[in-house]
Amino acid sequence: MSVPALLILYGSQTGTAKDTAQRIARQALRRHLQMRLSALDDYNVGNLISESLVVFVCSTTGQGEPPDNMKNFWRFLFRKSLPVGSLCQLDCAVLGLGDSSYPKFNFVAKKLHKRLIQLGASLLLPVGLADDQHDLGPDAVIDPWLKSFWEKVFALYLGFSDMVPLREDEPLPPTYTFNFLDGTNEKTDDCQIIPTQQGGLSQSEPFYAKLLSNERVTHPNHFQDVRHIEFDILGSTINFNPGDVVMMRPCNAIEDVEELCQLLRLDPEAKFSLKATDGSTVPARLQQPWTLHYLVESYLDIAAVPRRSFFELLSTFSNDKLEREKLVEFSSAEGQEELHIYCNRPRRTALEVLADFPHTTAKLKVDYLLDLFPEIQPRSFSIASSLRALSNRLQILVAVVKYKTKLFKPRRGLCSTWLASLDPTKEDVYVPLWVKKGTLRFPTEPNTPVIMVGPGTGVAPFRSALQERTAEGKNANVLFFGCRSESKDFYFRCEWKEMTKAGKLILFTAFSRDQEEKVYVQQRVRENATLIWDLIANKGAYFYIAGNAKDMPSGVCDALKLVFQKEGGLSPEDAEKMLAAMESSGKSQNETWS
Ligand SMILES: Cc1cc2nc3c(=O)[nH]c(=O)nc-3n(C[C@H](O)[C@H](O)[C@H](O)COP(=O)(O)O)c2cc1C
Ligand SMILES: *[C@@H]1O[C@H](CO)[C@@H](O)[C@H](O)[C@H]1NC(C)=O
Ligand SMILES: *[C@@H]1O[C@H](CO)[C@@H](O)[C@H](O)[C@H]1NC(C)=O
Repeated sequence: MSVPALLILYGSQTGTAKDTAQRIARQALRRHLQMRLSALDDYNVGNLISESLVVFVCSTTGQGEPPDNMKNFWRFLFRKSLPVGSLCQLDCAVLGLGDSSYPKFNFVAKKLHKRLIQLGASLLLPVGLADDQHDLGPDAVIDPWLKSFWEKVFALYLGFSDMVPLREDEPLPPTYTFNFLDGTNEKTDDCQIIPTQQGGLSQSEPFYAKLLSNERVTHPNHFQDVRHIEFDILGSTINFNPGDVVMMRPCNAIEDVEELCQLLRLDPEAKFSLKATDGSTVPARLQQPWTLHYLVESYLDIAAVPRRSFFELLSTFSNDKLEREKLVEFSSAEGQEELHIYCNRPRRTALEVLADFPHTTAKLKVDYLLDLFPEIQPRSFSIASSLRALSNRLQILVAVVKYKTKLFKPRRGLCSTWLASLDPTKEDVYVPLWVKKGTLRFPTEPNTPVIMVGPGTGVAPFRSALQERTAEGKNANVLFFGCRSESKDFYFRCEWKEMTKAGKLILFTAFSRDQEEKVYVQQRVRENATLIWDLIANKGAYFYIAGNAKDMPSGVCDALKLVFQKEGGLSPEDAEKMLAAMESSGKSQNETWS
């Protein structure tokens, strides 16, 4: 008997599960197995009944939700009409990627595992539950799980005697080859493609929205640069409600693009088309000919901290003994702590790593670019405006991420830095974007009050809600806003003032640094217990928290429970229960980010 072709299917939101699936693909090739690799929604799920060997690699996103690129598969698989024994010919295994700090840890992988059993599939080994929280990252689970997976596969089909030994350093062919086209000296204006009309509903069809304004809303001598950015979405089919998010794909900084081209001796103006070496399809965005400049600027994630697979691939090119040893160490299970210290902790970028390994980098072949670097991931921002108040407009509030580590150059957030660099006074600055449903839901009943706690840029979704609600005549609104200083980072103060004057808003502010002792929003919540209790207990108010996920959300929840105790006379246990009941009925909602 021989091992049947292995099908590797992944569901991945930010690329980790995809990276793991690609790693399994390389391991399969090194074992001389036939394999196919696909995102779950790119696979014709009807064919699953005729597959023999499948490994599923799935992350969990949101609050226990499947990633966007497996949503259709998910819906199909849980159809009631699927016969119980329909997958009885299938040997398979499920590897999950998750984070145990979320209440629904690896929910998707666990549920998939159960469902496959229910449909009659044979599961080769227990579901793997990789955890971001582990000191050594997800690999702490993935490495032993994969070892066991291959043992099971070979034992099942060949018997243990024929186990092919594991070799991680054998070079593999690139996934794509670059075919350079001649006579292409006309410049393409890379990140700014000819804007299309329509679109804006999905990643595959973004809308090219014209940048209308990009205004710094913090005081010039405040440490943080925060931008209020406005786009024109006229001509798109975009529709959104308060709480929804806008997705964007940023571009790399020009200096970084130039540096990479220099390091790899690439001609940025060279135009190419791609061919998949295994006959599979080229990613949709790369199907027409582009310049290398476009590829590096808008596709390859060169400014992210590289994953372990980056080192694994680099090591296979290296002829330099010292560099190779280091790279092999970084790609080994034993070297993960070293890798963490070298890369993750100081947030070293892939580009900086290449500069640290000059001999290896000089040997890199252009064909491997797409194996080496993942695609730049889209970023999401809470929408800060309302279509009802501002038609054909979409606004966001963005903190420009910049911080120091032990490395000399400050670290910068790719998307926020890129957005901040865009100049609305130039003609034709278009940003590809699309919108997605958010998690926050606001009450439709006109007299139901809302209490919103949104310090810092957490105020963004609440500005959208306030614009929309006041436009609809829903005037029972309470906002708790917090920032460092009234004069430095008090966003939208004039708008709040007007709404307050018009009787449409009660605003509470906490300026943490404007007096000796620090004051935060949670203190204001406690101080105004009477009002909050009245709104919640007697008027059915909804309660919302948005903003930085660190200590603020739990601090505010604790303050709210104290309000229930103080004003409602509840015991600590009953206050806890009351908040839990609000959460399960959707009357208390969070939108937090880190
Ligand atoms: C917005 C967001 C929500 C998440 N929700 C969950 C969750 O509910 N349960 C869980 O186990 N992990 C959760 N995670 C962690 C991811 O599953 C984990 O980081 C995984 O490695 C990401 O894989 P991916 O890049 O393939 O999507 C979440 C991560 C993010 C960014
Ligand atoms: C909120 O609390 C502050 C501080 O105790 C108080 O000055 C203010 O009057 C309260 N506002 C309302 C509306 O209860
Ligand atoms: C909001 O966040 C707090 C702190 O993490 C948590 O205790 C609470 O359960 C969350 N509420 C909801 C509705 O998710």
